[in-house]
Amino acid sequence: MRARYGDVFTVGFGPTDVTILGHPRHAEHVLRDNADNYQDKGGMHGFRAGHYPLMRTGLATVTGDSASWRQQRRVIQPALHPRHLEAFIEVMVEAIGDRLGHWPTTAESERPIDLEREMTRMTMHVIGQTVFGTAIAPHEADRLAAAVRETFDYTWRGAAAMSLPAWVPWPGQRRYRRAIETVHQGVAELVERSLRHGDPARHLVAALWQASRSEDDAAAARGYVHTEALTLLITGYESTAAALSWAFHLLSRHPSVLETLRAEVDAVLGERRPTYPDLARLPYARMVVEETLRLYPPSHWIQRRAASEDEIDGFTIRAGAIVAPMIHLIHHHPDVWDDPGRFRPERFTPDRVAERHRLAWIPFGAGQRMCPAEEFGLVKSQLILAQVLQRYDVTAVPGRVPGIRVGTNVRPAGGVWARVTPRRTSW
Ligand code: HEM
Repeated sequence: MRARYGDVFTVGFGPTDVTILGHPRHAEHVLRDNADNYQDKGGMHGFRAGHYPLMRTGLATVTGDSASWRQQRRVIQPALHPRHLEAFIEVMVEAIGDRLGHWPTTAESERPIDLEREMTRMTMHVIGQTVFGTAIAPHEADRLAAAVRETFDYTWRGAAAMSLPAWVPWPGQRRYRRAIETVHQGVAELVERSLRHGDPARHLVAALWQASRSEDDAAAARGYVHTEALTLLITGYESTAAALSWAFHLLSRHPSVLETLRAEVDAVLGERRPTYPDLARLPYARMVVEETLRLYPPSHWIQRRAASEDEIDGFTIRAGAIVAPMIHLIHHHPDVWDDPGRFRPERFTPDRVAERHRLAWIPFGAGQRMCPAEEFGLVKSQLILAQVLQRYDVTAVPGRVPGIRVGTNVRPAGGVWARVTPRRTSW
C-alpha cells in the first residue's frame, strides 16, 4: 500500500472518506501534539454506536473529551493500573491453568486443534475471573465470541448500511440485532453471577458497583455497571485472543524462536506456577508478545475526527474529516524497522527500543485514549505463552496457513491449527 500510495492517502468506506496516515510522526501529531483537535473517535465509531449499539456509551466508545469519558476513565484506569497487577496475577495463573486442564492428553494429541478458538476461550475465561470473579465455560465463551464476531463483521461490512435510517432493510440486520441481544444477555448473566458468587476483593465489577453509588437510582446504577462490564469483556478478550493466536502461528513456524522461549520458560519456571516476580525474569516471552503485536496489531488503525482544519505532512485535513493513523503501516515503516516483515523478537531489547521513534510501536494506541490495560494485556499474554509452553509442544499443521481477516480487529482467517503434545505426562 505504501509503495503505491505513500504515507498519506484517502480511502472511501461506504459514505465516509478516511485519510490514512502511515508514519510514526503522524501518530504523534494526531494522538499527542495536536490531540485537542482530534478528541472525537470518528465516524466509523459513529456507525458502530448507531442503531443497535453493541458497546453503548461505555468507556471505549463514548465520544470525545467529554465529562462522561473522564468520569468513566477515572474508575477503570486505576483498577487496571500496573500497580494493581500483582493482585491479578494469581487469578490469571489459576484461570489459565483451569483451561489448560482441558487441553489434549497424550492419547488425544495427534488431532490438531484450533488455537484461535482455544485462545478465545482462554482469554475470555481470564476476563471472567478478573473482571467478573466467575468462570466463563467454553460453551458460553463460544456463544459470546460468535455473537461479538457477528456484530463486528456486520459493522465492518455494513458501514454504509449503518449510516442509513434504522427502518431501511439491509441484509444480515436481523442476525446482527439478535447477536447484540445475545451479548447483552450474556453480560447481564455474568454481572448477576459475579454479584452472587464472586469474591469482590478479586474482581473489577465490584469496583464498578462502588463507582455507581453516585447514580440516583438503582436502574441507572445497573445500566452503568452493565455497560462498563460489557466494554471490559469485549476489549479484554478480543485483542488478546487475536494476538496470542498470531503468536502461536509465528512460533510454530519459527523453531529457533520457539526453542529460545522454551529454554527461558524451563530455566525460570520449570514445572512450578508463575508468580509476579517471575514476569521480570521472562523478558523473551515479553519480547515475543511485543514483536507479534508489531507484525499483527489487533487494532489496525485508530480513527479520529478533526475538529478544525489542519495540515499533516503537506496534506490539508478539512474540519470534520476522519483521519486514521494506520498501526499496521506504522509498524512496518522502513524508516524505522529494518526488514519489517521478519519476525524478530530481539527488536524489543531495551536499548533497541530506546533508539526508535517513541510512537513507532503503538498496538495500544497513544495519548489520552490509549488502552488503559496495556500492562494487563501484555502480562496476560506473557503468562499464557509461558504456561502453554510449560506443558505443551506446539507444532504447525503443514499446509494450514491462516489467512488475514481484516475487520474491526485483525484475526487469523480459518483458525490457527496446530498439534499440541503434552511435554510431561505426569502433569
Ligand atoms: C493485546 C491486547 C490489547 C490491545 C492490542 C489493545 C488495544 C487498544 C487500543 C489500540 C485502544 C485505543 C483505541 C483508540 O485510541 O481509539 C484500546 C482502548 C481500550 N482498551 Fe485495549 N487493548 C488490549 C487489551 C485490553 C484489555 C485486556 C482491556 C481490559 C481488560 C482493554 C480495555 C480497553 C479500554 C476500556 C479501552 C478504551 C479506553 C478509552 O477510550 O479511554 N484493552 N485498546
